[in-house]
Parts: sequence; structure tokens; C-alpha cells
Amino acid sequence: MTTDFEWKEEYSVDVPLLDNQHKYMFEQGKKISHLQPEQTKKLVVDLYRYIMQHFTAEEAHMKEIEFPELEEHRRLHENIIDQLNQMTTGFEPSERNTLKLKLFIFNWLQTHILKHDKKYFEFVNR
Ligand SMILES: [Fe+2]
Ligand SMILES: [Fe+2]
Repeated sequence: MTTDFEWKEEYSVDVPLLDNQHKYMFEQGKKISHLQPEQTKKLVVDLYRYIMQHFTAEEAHMKEIEFPELEEHRRLHENIIDQLNQMTTGFEPSERNTLKLKLFIFNWLQTHILKHDKKYFEFVNR
């Protein structure tokens, strides 16, 4: 299983602030993938805080451009937060849990940005 934590041009939503936040999250994901399980928790907590800030910024942007699917998108964010909560509460730093977390973060970053974040980009560029 490979998790290639590289931000790619195809992920761009054409909003520099949001692209930079996405890039930073990929960087953090890359760091997590090189950490020993014991070091993971701190990074995950930091990433979690950052993700919350990112969602706030992203939702503000969608509101500004009057994106019609804001509510659905907001629910997707809430869902991610719920899943992250479940994964990080009482996180036991084992190889297996660290791998699970890495995969979750990677899948989320890749799928959410490419599939869902791209929609507000397409809306503006229609
Ligand atoms: Fe995003
Ligand atoms: Fe999003």
C-alpha cells in the first residue's frame, strides 16, 4: 500500500489560501508517514486543529462565492471531523493504528479535495 503524500497541480482549487492549506496538510501527512507510532499523536492533534481552521476558511470562501452546495459540503466536513475524533480519542500508538490513521488522512485528502473541493472550483469557473 503506497500513500504518496504529494500535492499535485490537479488538486488546485485556484484559491491561493486554500491551496496552501491543502499543501500544508499533505506535508503533515508526509511527516506522519515517517514517524514512529509514539510520535504520531502530537502531530495528529496539530493536524486536527489545522483541519478545523481550514474547514472554516473553506466554508467562508464557499459562502462568499454563493456556492449552492455549501450545506452538503459542510456536512462532509462534519463527517470527517467525527471520523477523526473517533480515531484520535484514546489513540494507542501502535503500528497498526498509525497505519490506519495514515490511510485515513491520505484517502480523505485525496478524495475530498479531488472530488468535493473541486466542485466549488468548477462552480466559479463554469
Ligand atoms: Fe479542503
Ligand atoms: Fe472541503
